Parts: sequence; C-alpha cells; structure tokens
Amino acid sequence: MTYVVLDNCIACKHTDCVEVCPVDCFYEGENMLVIHPDECIDCGVCEPECPVDAIRPDTEPDMEKWVEFNREYSEKWPVIITKVDPLPDAEKLDGVENKLETHFSPNPGKGG
Ligand code: SF4
Ligand code: F3S
Repeated sequence: MTYVVLDNCIACKHTDCVEVCPVDCFYEGENMLVIHPDECIDCGVCEPECPVDAIRPDTEPDMEKWVEFNREYSEKWPVIITKVDPLPDAEKLDGVENKLETHFSPNPGKGG
C-alpha cells in the first residue's frame, strides 16, 4: 500500500505535506509533487495536512493510474523536504477539473 498525490495538487503545490513525512518521499515537479510508492511507509500523516485534499491512499477505487503516475515522476524529479510558498493561483485553481490535461508540467521542480 502507498499514498499518492492526485491532480488537485497541480498548480496549487502547498507543500505542507513534505514537512510531516518521516521518510522524505515527496518529489517536486514544476507545479505539483508526487510520492514514491516504494518509499512511502503508509503512515498517513500527510493526508490531512494537504489544504486541497490532494493526497489519498491507493486502497481507494481507481488509484492504479495514480500509483504509476507517482512512480514515474518520482523517478524523474528531485526530492523536496522543505516547505515553500504555494503557487500564485493555488486558491483560484483548487478543485478545477481536468488539471492533468490543462495545467500539468512534466518539468522538474527545484527540490530542496
Ligand atoms: Fe510520507 Fe507517510 Fe505520506 Fe507516505 S503516508 S508520503 S510515508 S507522510
Ligand atoms: Fe500538493 Fe497538497 Fe502537498 S497541494 S504539495 S499534496 S500539501
């Protein structure tokens, strides 16, 4: 089992989640984070920290695609362990549908 970051993180990226993870398994893209499924220890402490409810356990329905998405990008992006400011449109874009199609960037973030 693992937790995964879903598309509502895209263009929000609050990063509260990274401060509580005991194993530092969040990876930073330009405008979202992902969790490495093989490093996550399923502790669950990050889930309630996300202000936009973008973290879920993979035991919920239809999560296979998100596990693979998190795996793919966690192997391409740098680790992030320090909270940074949310993206400028975080409030405006919370809850917007189809953000993966309209707002996702595959570019890496800075990490840190
Ligand atoms: Fe880190 Fe725990 Fe969240 Fe997994 S569930 S990403 S180990 S805080
Ligand atoms: Fe994203 Fe929520 Fe973390 S918006 S960066 S999953 S706190």
